[in-house]
Amino acid sequence: MKVLRTTSDMLHARWHCGMGAETSVGFVPTMGYLHDGHLALIQLARRRAAWVVVSLFVNPTQFGPNEDFAQYPRDEKRDLALCEEAGVDVVFIPTPSEIYAADASVSVVENQLSEGMCGSTRPGHFNGVCTVVAKLFQIVRPDFAVFGQKDAQQVAVIKRMVRDLFFSVEIVVGPIVREKDGLALSSRNVYLHKPEREQALGLYATLQEMQAQWEMDMRDAQSLTAWGRQYLVDHYPEVELEYLVICDPDSLLPCADVQAGTLIAIAARVGQTRLIDNILVGT
Ligand code: PAF
Repeated sequence: MKVLRTTSDMLHARWHCGMGAETSVGFVPTMGYLHDGHLALIQLARRRAAWVVVSLFVNPTQFGPNEDFAQYPRDEKRDLALCEEAGVDVVFIPTPSEIYAADASVSVVENQLSEGMCGSTRPGHFNGVCTVVAKLFQIVRPDFAVFGQKDAQQVAVIKRMVRDLFFSVEIVVGPIVREKDGLALSSRNVYLHKPEREQALGLYATLQEMQAQWEMDMRDAQSLTAWGRQYLVDHYPEVELEYLVICDPDSLLPCADVQAGTLIAIAARVGQTRLIDNILVGT
């Protein structure tokens, strides 16, 4: 496994070290502190590609001024051991200055899908995500890139960027990986103290109960959303709901009727920790 830290080394490896034009390259961009969710994405890439590239980069531009960039968990040694074990070929670990020139003045802005949901409380977040992912696509030149369904809005935004800017990379989406009790895996779960972790289960429990109501024929999105909000308040009072939306998974536009494949997405704070989760109804 190669560990590369500069853009020029990564570009060189892409074209001169076996990863030529005929080789299929699968890419898993991450911010490190890998968990089983990331490893599932890596395995998905491993099954399809001759070369698997993983990036470890805590991207400063996707964090707001009052967010957790400084505290975001990092453990490069452990990440490298996990990548090695998972059969990764190249780990790309750039520094911020390698990705952002001091006078960088170009960024990628998505103007529609980024506005609501997480975008309403994290202004600029998806500009940071689009910009870094566009840069990483340019440096790694993958045939396909794998993203997790847990970040459903990120998936929609990246797919839109790829479509609108004609990137020739296929976007592959890996399913959400959960703890045994249903909590969606996230690097931020380490912030949760024990009682908070109990409350954090409220996100998935609400989604599951909404799905059960849908199965019992509650198809009107407004009624189902109201039902879900009430369920969360009644059963998980410590969870501070940020949003609960029912929408189309590609356009993120609200749906009036809930059908199979409709996205139900939730974001909430438990103590200081912000968590997100979602389901695609009936899947
Ligand atoms: O999902 C993430 O971990 C990040 O948003 C990504 C895609 C690696 C960009 O920094």
